[in-house]
Parts: sequence; C-alpha cells; structure tokens
Amino acid sequence: MSIRIEEQDRLFSLETAHTLYQMKADETGVLLHTWYGPRTGTDMSYRIRTANRGFCGNPFEMQDRLDYSLDTLPQEYAGNGVGDFRPAAVQAEGPDGSLSVDWRYAGYRLLKGKEKPEGLPGLRGNAETEGLEIILEDKVNGLAAHLIYWLFEQHDVIVRSARIENRGTVPVTLTKAASLSIDIPYGKKHVMHFHGRHAMERIPERTAVPAGGRLAFESRRGMSSHQSNPFIILCDPETTERQGVCHGFMLMYSGNHLEEVSGDQTGSTRVACGIHPEGFRWKLNPGDRFQTPEAILSCSAEGLNALSRNYHRVIRDEVIAPRWRGAKKPVLVNSWEACYFGFDAEKLLKLAQSAAELGMEMLVLDDGWFGCRDDDTTSLGDWTCNEEKLGCSLKELSERIHALGLRFGLWFEPEMVSLDSDLYRAHPDWALTDPGRDPMVSRHQLVLDMGRAEVQDYLFENISAVLRDARIEYVKWDFNRSVANVYSRALPADRQGETAHRFMLGTYLLLERLTEAFPDVMIEGCSGGGGRFDAGMLYYCPQIWCSDNTDAVERLEIQKGTSYGYPVCTMGAHVSACPNHQTGRRVPLETRGIVAQAGTFGYELDPAKLTEAEKQTVKEQIAAFHRFEALIEGGDYYRLDEREGDYTAWMFVSPDKKEALVSVVATHVRANGPFPFIRLQGLDPEKAYHREDKKESLTGAALMYGGISLPQFNGDYPAEQVYLICDRRYQR
Ligand code: DGJ
Repeated sequence: MSIRIEEQDRLFSLETAHTLYQMKADETGVLLHTWYGPRTGTDMSYRIRTANRGFCGNPFEMQDRLDYSLDTLPQEYAGNGVGDFRPAAVQAEGPDGSLSVDWRYAGYRLLKGKEKPEGLPGLRGNAETEGLEIILEDKVNGLAAHLIYWLFEQHDVIVRSARIENRGTVPVTLTKAASLSIDIPYGKKHVMHFHGRHAMERIPERTAVPAGGRLAFESRRGMSSHQSNPFIILCDPETTERQGVCHGFMLMYSGNHLEEVSGDQTGSTRVACGIHPEGFRWKLNPGDRFQTPEAILSCSAEGLNALSRNYHRVIRDEVIAPRWRGAKKPVLVNSWEACYFGFDAEKLLKLAQSAAELGMEMLVLDDGWFGCRDDDTTSLGDWTCNEEKLGCSLKELSERIHALGLRFGLWFEPEMVSLDSDLYRAHPDWALTDPGRDPMVSRHQLVLDMGRAEVQDYLFENISAVLRDARIEYVKWDFNRSVANVYSRALPADRQGETAHRFMLGTYLLLERLTEAFPDVMIEGCSGGGGRFDAGMLYYCPQIWCSDNTDAVERLEIQKGTSYGYPVCTMGAHVSACPNHQTGRRVPLETRGIVAQAGTFGYELDPAKLTEAEKQTVKEQIAAFHRFEALIEGGDYYRLDEREGDYTAWMFVSPDKKEALVSVVATHVRANGPFPFIRLQGLDPEKAYHREDKKESLTGAALMYGGISLPQFNGDYPAEQVYLICDRRYQR
C-alpha cells in the first residue's frame, strides 16, 4: 500500500519507489509537513522542534504554549495573516474586507482512479492510480481547501493540486491560490531555475536560498515564457549531477506563474508554486470552486541526473498523449529558415522534392500561407489559404507533396489576431484591450480573448475546415507575443482578474477539442521558439519547438537546460543552414546533426542548396537517426560534462543497459590540450561494451570510472558520437 494513514496520529505517509512524502495534522488541526525525501519508514515529525522565539505569536487556543507558532512550524499549505509571516499559499478577501485565511484539518478521502483537474491538463494515470485528498477549512470565511495528491510510484513522482471551495454564504475573492506550498526543514539549500530570453531559453542558474529572504521566479506575460520556466529544483549545496538530494517542482501550466523560495529564521525553506497572484482575482460565489493547475513533484537522493530522469519518464509516460507515446515521428523539413515568407507552390514542391531525395519525411509549411500575409504585418485570424500567392489550393499542394512521398504539416497561430485582418475588422471586441486605451502591439498583432466561447468556436471551425480540406498530418501551433492589456470585453468589472486564467482555460479547451477531432494530427507547440515550453502544453503537443535559435553551439546550452525537466523526445531541434541565421556562426554539418539528434530531429534549410558531399552527410544523418531513434527517444538520458568545461557531452542508455550512444561536442578546442576522457554513466559495471568505431571492448565500470577516450579535437566545434553495444563475448 503506497498510502499509509495512521488515524490516531493523523499521520499521512505517501510512498513511492524511493521517496516518502509525509504530513501530520497536529492537536490544533494545523496540517504540518513532516517530510519529503528518501523513504525512512518512520514518523518524521520527531524532527519538528519548537522554541519560544521572539515575535512569533501563538494561535489563540495555544496562547499559553509560547513555543507553538505558525510562524515556525513546517506547514503543508500555509494560510494568510494569522501568524505565519512567510509567503502564503492562499490569499482571499471576504466581503467585509478581511484578508485572513486560517486553515484547520477537516478530514481526508482516499482516491482511486486518476481524475483530470477541471478544465486543465493533468497527469493521465489510470483507474488504478491512487490518491489522497486532505480537506482544510476556514470556519470563518467558509473556504475549504481540498489538497489533492496523486502517486506515480514507479516514477517517484507526486502530483499536487488544490481545489478551493466556497462553502460559506457570502462571496469570497481569491487573490492567490498556489498549487503547492511546502516547508523543507532544516539546512542550507540551493535553488536551480531556468531563465532566458527569446532565442536563448532555459539557461540553468544555481543560487543559494537566502536566509530571511525570498526569491521569486515568475512570468506575468500570459505565457509560461522564455524568461522563466515554471520549473525549479531545490537541492543541497553539495548535490551534483551524480549525487545528493534534490527536489523538483514543475507546474503543469502555460500561463502566468510564480515559484517562490524563501529561507526562514529557523533555517527552513518554503517553496510555493502556482498561478501568479499579481493581477489574479477569482470571485467565488457560495458553492463555487476554483481548481489550481497540477504541480509535478519529484525527489532524488542520487543527484540531478536521476531527478531529471524521473521527469523524463513521467512526462513520456503520463503527460504525452498515448497516441504519440513512443511513436516514430517523421524527420521533417520546415520552410521557415528555408524561405521565410517568400514561397509559392512551385518553390515548396522543389523544396519537397529535394528533401524527399535525401530521406526527409515531411514538409512543414510555416508562416505566410493564409489571408494576404507576405510579412508579419497582416492576416492572423484569417485562416483561409492565400491561393493567389501559392498558385493553387492547399488541398492540391498537400496532395502533390504526398505524391512526392512526404507528409505535410502546416503552421497556425490561433490565439492571435492581426490589426490588419478581416477578423479584427469584424470583431474588434474579441481582442484583449483596455477601455479607453490604445493597446500594446507586438509583431503588429493583438491577443484574442480565448476565454470567450465564440472565439473558441470560431477558431475550432476555421482550423478544422483547413485540416479537413487538405491532407495535413501535423500542425505547428505558434504564439508570438506576450499578453498585455489583459481586459476582457465579455467580463464584468469584478471579474477582470479572471481574464488571464480564463485565457489559458480557453486555449486548453480549444486544444482539447482539436486533438479529439483530429487525433492523428500531431501538434508541435511553439512560441517564438520555446516561450511556452511547459508540461501543460506537452499534454496536447508531444513536442515543442525548443528555440528560434538554431545555432548548434547555442542549442547545446538551450537543450541541456531544457533537459533538467523535459525529455529529449519533446524538444524540437533542427539542422539549419551555415552560416547560422541567428549568430552567423559556422558549425560543421556533422556537429549540427549530432546536436539536432538530441531532440526530435529535422531540418530547417533548403536541401537543394547543399553541396553533393553535404547531401551525402544528410542522408547518413537521417539513417543514423532512424537507427538510434528508439535509444534517443526512449532511453535514459545523462548529462556528462559537469567537470569538463571544454565539452558538452551527453549519453543515452537503453533501459536494458545493453546499448548506449555518447555524444560530445568540443566547444573550446585547445592547442596541446589535455587528453580528453569523459566518464560515462548509467552502464552496467559488470558488462563489457563494444565500441563500434574501434575494435575494443571495455567494461561498464572502466567506462564509468576511467572514462571513454576521445580524440585530440581539432578545428571549429568538432563532435564525436560513439555507439556502444554490450558484447556478450567479453562478459565476465
Ligand atoms: C516563430 C517560430 O518560432 C518560428 O519557427 C516561425 O514559425 C515564426 N514564428 C513564424 O512567424
């Protein structure tokens, strides 16, 4: 049994394969967080110490227990304004203006059969998935918090969310509703977060949690954002890729988010993650409820690589739609960097022809096929084919592309509207704009009010019509600006604080309807590259374009940063032209191929412009990708370059440990440099591995502790890929 409840002690223990998550309702009904870490088989509340600390007041009923204070106790879902001065999980405002929320334990319920959170994406689970619901109540304002925990035992993952209900008789407005809050007592901690910018997303940064201070990682852009991914890792200062305790907190949400990490006066760390409270106000009339997004929690005592693998597995198994789980995906060529807005059907067919000759399997027609769009100033929202530009219908184009042996994909940017568009002229009120103000414009476009049913219906009908008419197997779903002027023309004044979240609910509903209606059309998420790379979008889109930066050397950092939380099978990665369009850098085609192979693998160039030798290399790359695809997409992934500043290196190991693929890119070649060895991971120490490129076999132990020997690198950004296969002849 993975959920153990000791009724008398009101102790709740949630056990996964290697971890224990534990809570206890104490004698006053405060729900204490007692442990999240390796399994101990013990009531961990012995670690909770109390002392009379100055300026830490006591709940009324405990006024004689001067050592008992909400300000110092580790709490599971902190209230507000009643004596805990650390960040609150929930803030609410009653009609009398009172802001206090004082939670007390009110019961629990065992759950079986994973339920999707209302209106939101969630981990899939199945009828056997076990869960626990703990109910907290505030008797005065009538609010109840249903804390929901689902166990993914074999993944070492716990999924948390909260449902806040108004059980009272008067309206209450929620102004903060975190998906989780947790107090991790005691000891210094580090936090890793993943920041960035357009064309440079998810760069890891590790910093100490400040004593007595608070760190906030956030997006208020209406999207999970390029600037701050909704994923953080809390770890011990000594934790490395290979060892040490670490906890991951990933929000399954694509809109505004906040991850708060604060160090308190007792040496504990509080983490709270959820929808960003700034600008958020959700009115709960009596009987109403609010469901927070789910957060995916994992813990490892074996370092960051092991934590990442927990996320990789759970995303592959429980987030990605079953239809696309482990599915072979076509090697695609995308028209964007090949011809941007400058194409017609003949040009696209030539592109398709040369792509087919090299073994590519799908042509994706990117931006510019609809309305009268020849640049980024017009036509978003007018999702009808520009036949004049193409010289034929989309149906005809798609059929001719299929006749060349390729599948066909198409770009959309559903949530946007151009100022210069028929849609905006017909329905200016469908865009998010403030009364009496000129809206912020970005890329000449405004953002649609996705919370409105008529907007969702319009998009569903128009996109469906295109998907039904032409032969389309893939959609690239783009989102190219931050959201401002968050004001809905359809909501009353006292509900405007709901607009941003209603926007996300509307987008998810549209994605739900489209994926249901077109189950065989694969949607690739995109947001000016990786501006919406999150578990929420991955629920609908099995892969997401990782970045608009296609420079292979920059991609090393972007893909490595992404790998802390997300598996390679979700990372859209293409080989692009040389010199690179974003940086002007020249990187060998072989290296560009190896880097794109640590992702979904495709091309973003005009194959006809390649030399004969390059075409040969491309054919070999595609063959290699097909050969290793199962290992890359389904294997265990390890970052290897912790100590080796001049290389970026990673490897995949098959689940049975019989095969491995090691990739190394030398980012800094040195004259007369040290002999390069890279210590591998994840192999069976007892097994002998045969190195295909050399006639040599080495034990897993030798490769992991002694390292793999690499050539003295020379030239610009050389790369090496080594395939290792377990060779029974040498097994001890
Ligand atoms: C941003 C995307 O990331 C690009 O790949 C491309 O689709 C452009 N938008 C098209 O406008």
